[in-house]
Amino acid sequence: MEIFLDTANLYDISHYRDFICGVTTNPTIMAAYAADDHKNIIGQICDMVIGHVSVEVISENFNDMVREGQEMAAWNNKICIKLPCTFDGLKACRHLSANGIATNMTLCFSSAQALLAARCGAAYVSPFIGRLDDDGCDGLSLLEEISDIYDIGGYETKLLAASVRNVNHFIQSAMLGADAITIPPSILKQCFEHHLTEKGIKIFSEDFRKSIKG
Ligand code: E4P
Repeated sequence: MEIFLDTANLYDISHYRDFICGVTTNPTIMAAYAADDHKNIIGQICDMVIGHVSVEVISENFNDMVREGQEMAAWNNKICIKLPCTFDGLKACRHLSANGIATNMTLCFSSAQALLAARCGAAYVSPFIGRLDDDGCDGLSLLEEISDIYDIGGYETKLLAASVRNVNHFIQSAMLGADAITIPPSILKQCFEHHLTEKGIKIFSEDFRKSIKG
């Protein structure tokens, strides 16, 4: 499962770069970390990772989405254009994908949207697990359903678990066949932690020190 970091924080990207293949952003993330100089920040992020960097359009109609997507894709060849799973977004996905631009279909909340994204040639589709959970639904069930649909249909679109809120989402996404996940730095940090690991290190270290003294 490919791991992306869901942030534009350069310190976090640098800190975790050995464990991630790329980065995903969205307009909220860009507003929080990149001030106005989006192109510059995205360029720096591209230099730090080996894989895709997803950057989202803010336009809502087909023509503007395509124009914005083409403009941003020209910044760097690692850029993957994020488009919302709307009628216009899916049309733009089809157009950009057919013209060699990688796309990540975002704000996906149903299998129908994911199926259409695959039919439109999306490189990635991003179901928002956490936001579905917040809405009283089961985000992981949606992930499982899309995984099955893509397996049955033999689609090449990669299933990217997004809106990840906890370590269980991380593990279950892998169990359910997600090809990729995007995870906030705070949750990735938790994936390294286990109290028995800390306890074990302490015991080993104490035992070793005792043996030297003895
Ligand atoms: C995914 O591509 C989005 O950037 C992100 O996962 C959204 O997560 P949130 O629901 O925590 O904002």
